[in-house]
This record gives sequence, structure tokens and C-alpha cells, in this order.
Amino acid sequence: MADRDPTIDAAGAARCPGATWGDILALDGRPVPPFLAEERYQYLGSDPIPAARYTDMAFQRLENDRMWPNVWQFAARDEDLPEPGDYIVYENAGRSFLVVRQDDGGVKAMHNVCLHRGRKLRTEDGTSDQFQCPFHGFTWAKTGALKEIPCAWDFTHLTQRDMSLPEAEVARWQGYIFLRENAGGPGIEDYLAPLPEFFQRWRHDQCTTAIWVGKVVPANWKVTMEAFMEAWHTIVTHPQLLPFTGDANTSYNIYGDNVNVAYTPFGVMSPHVDPAGKEQQWIVDEFIKYNGRSADNYEDSPYAVTVPDGMSARRALGEAMRRNFVKSFGHPDLHEQATDVEMLDGLVYNVFPHFAPWGGYMPNIVYRWRPGSDPDHCLMEVRILVRVPEGEPMPRGVPMKLLRPDQPWSAAPELGVLGHVFDQDMDNLPYVQDGLKVSKNGEVQLGDYQEIRIRQFHQTLEKYVGAG
Ligand code: FES
Ligand SMILES: [Fe+2]
Repeated sequence: MADRDPTIDAAGAARCPGATWGDILALDGRPVPPFLAEERYQYLGSDPIPAARYTDMAFQRLENDRMWPNVWQFAARDEDLPEPGDYIVYENAGRSFLVVRQDDGGVKAMHNVCLHRGRKLRTEDGTSDQFQCPFHGFTWAKTGALKEIPCAWDFTHLTQRDMSLPEAEVARWQGYIFLRENAGGPGIEDYLAPLPEFFQRWRHDQCTTAIWVGKVVPANWKVTMEAFMEAWHTIVTHPQLLPFTGDANTSYNIYGDNVNVAYTPFGVMSPHVDPAGKEQQWIVDEFIKYNGRSADNYEDSPYAVTVPDGMSARRALGEAMRRNFVKSFGHPDLHEQATDVEMLDGLVYNVFPHFAPWGGYMPNIVYRWRPGSDPDHCLMEVRILVRVPEGEPMPRGVPMKLLRPDQPWSAAPELGVLGHVFDQDMDNLPYVQDGLKVSKNGEVQLGDYQEIRIRQFHQTLEKYVGAG
């Protein structure tokens, strides 16, 4: 018998040579919260994913019927609907909901369908104490209770029926509003675990939506989402980020069925860059040019960070960001505990199925993806949350700017150089979608380690819809 291939026993154990995430954390000037150092990788197998999951309408119908109604969906942020009567129309997977602020500050989510002959009650966000159907005028209060039927004499058969708008379950966490169409299953804290514990430090309930851009992408929602679930495409897709991105030092972790994270260090040179002759200042200068998340957050001018002799780029950037953070936002309580990691790095959490909030203290990116009416399109949204300065009231969030299909992300100048990074990602996606349809073996392969988040997502999806 031939010797066993030693790599089989070690599946998932291999890592990029060079500094680990743990080595990078050890350089921090402050004690890093232990959960950020935790290794929570688990080998989940190496089987390919069927390409048809991304291209097949039958599979999308399975998702729509079996998955979406049974999961907590990120539907809105508190600042989208701050006042009683404010409502947003949240549509996904063929459903339409009115998410409505109530007089007591609570939120209800009601099916946005007239119980007379089925017209959608609202097609745009707004503010109102009631919802009158634009067809014949059936009217519901903002609580969902039926208020009026015009020509009620003709509907006496309805007087004994519950004609309230059917509701979805609603849950709230750190400013995020979630809905679940079918009642039952875990409460939001259990569903999100361990994020409620982790985000106690970062307090997204102190933040408001300052930037919100959406775009219909000509690719499946999972193709698009998965392009943001690993850092290792940086080497070819985003080469301008390599001078300050530890792409291959990224730590990938999974928690239960619903939560996973990639921790990508910034302010260190990629292991793919030849360090010969490169100074720490070069890392900082490239970071400031191309790291869109933070370019506005330096003291004085965006180009003012000078690395003192003997200091690392990471430490210099961390110090500069901490100083400016307190200057811009107050909250010295947070400043005192903020580590370089939490000021600087990409701490990108994904919650099944479509919600991805960044952790840390700097303006936080929050992604959401929703399927289109066919498997070949999706809506991708990027929000940037900023911390509301201490003592100031929470401002209403900005509305979504929906780009036209022909507009690149860089047509939204508020995204800064991030728009350019997203455009580089988009350059791949239509060709992935086209390629998957004609794939000769019908399979998608995943790296055991760097693509573990994608594998965990698919295994959870299978629990809802079957293998498809
Ligand atoms: S369809 Fe709504 S009132 Fe007739
Ligand atoms: Fe990317």
C-alpha cells in the first residue's frame, strides 16, 4: 500500500510562511482583547461547491422559499427611521416589508401588501401615521391595525376577520434592525453570537450612517459577497494595497453556523512584497494614499504621519489614528482602550446570510447583499458608519445613493479611494458569473484555510435548502 499523503491528515493546517496574525498582535502597544487573538479556524472538508448554486433559478427559488423566511435579515438601521411614523420599504427575495417606527420608540415590520386586492402599499420610504392603499383606499394605522375600508357596506364579511397587516418578527442590536418572516428559531443575541460580546467595545449604536451607496451588480449575490470574504485576491486584484496589507497574514475564523471573520492587518507589508530597501515610512505613505477607510482621519493633513526612528509603521499609524479619533469624536473612554488593531486593521465579520459589519473604532464599513429577481444580478450596498461625537444628538442617516448600472463605484466620490477598490472587485464578477454557467466540471474549488468563511456559509445554506 502506498504511503498516505501526509497533507491529507494536515488538511487545513498549512499557513502562509511568515508572520502570523498572532505575531502582528504581539507588536501592539496595548493589551489586545483576547477574542481578537483567538484562533477559531476549523477544517470543514475540501469538497467542491456546485457551480449551479450561483446560476440556477431553481436553486434561487429554494433560497427564497426555505432560507430567507427563516433567518434574521439586516433590514435597516435605527437612524434610517428615527421618528414615530418614519418607515422604510425593505424588499428581498420577493418579499416586501414596511419597517415602521412606533410611538413608543419600538419598531414593527409588516408585510407591505394590501389585504384587499394585493397592491403594495408603499414603494418608497417616508413618514406617515397611516398607510392608505393607492388603489381603492383601504387604510391601516402605522401599528398595522385596519383603520378604514371605503364603501365598508360592501365588506361586512370582513368585520369578523383579523385584517391587521401580517407582521414579521423584529429584533434590534447596536442600532441594527433585523426582521425574520417566520416566527421561531434563535433570538437575535444567540443568532449573532459572539458578536454581541465583541461589539460591546465598538458600540455601533453610537454610530450613524454617513455614507450609503448601492449598486446592482451583474453577478449572483453569493458570487459578489464571497468576493469580500477573503483577502488573498489582493495579490492580483488590488496590487496597490500590497505595500500596507498583510493579505496572506490574514486570520480566518468561524463561529458556529452564522458568524465568521477575517482579520487582515494593515500597516504591514504583504509577504508578497520584496522588503529590500523598503522603509516603514513607505508603508505609511502608501497606506495614506490607498487605504480609503482612513484617509480622512489623520491629524492636520492626510500626509502628515511621519514614522519616528525605530517605530513601526503600524504603531505610528495607530498613534495618529487614536489622536485624531478623540479629536473628531470625543469618547476618551474608547480612546483609552483602543489598540492599534482596533484602529487600523480590517476586522470584517459576516453574519449569515448577508450582513457584514466591520469591527474596530474607525468609520466602519457595513456591507449587505440581496439577490436580484434572477440569479445573475444582486444589489450590493456599502454603508459607512461614523461615530457621533459625544454629547451630540444622533443625526438621521443619509438615504442610499443607488448608482446606475453603468456607473462605477468611483462615481460616488464620498467613497473616496474605496470606490476604486470596489471597481477592481467588480471587474471580476460578471466574468465569474458568465464562467460559472459554462464551467466544464460544474465545480467551484475553495482553499482549505483562506476560503473557510465561504465554506462555512455554504454549509449553513445547505442546512436550510439542502445541497441543491
Ligand atoms: S388593492 Fe388596496 S384598496 Fe384595493
Ligand atoms: Fe477586493
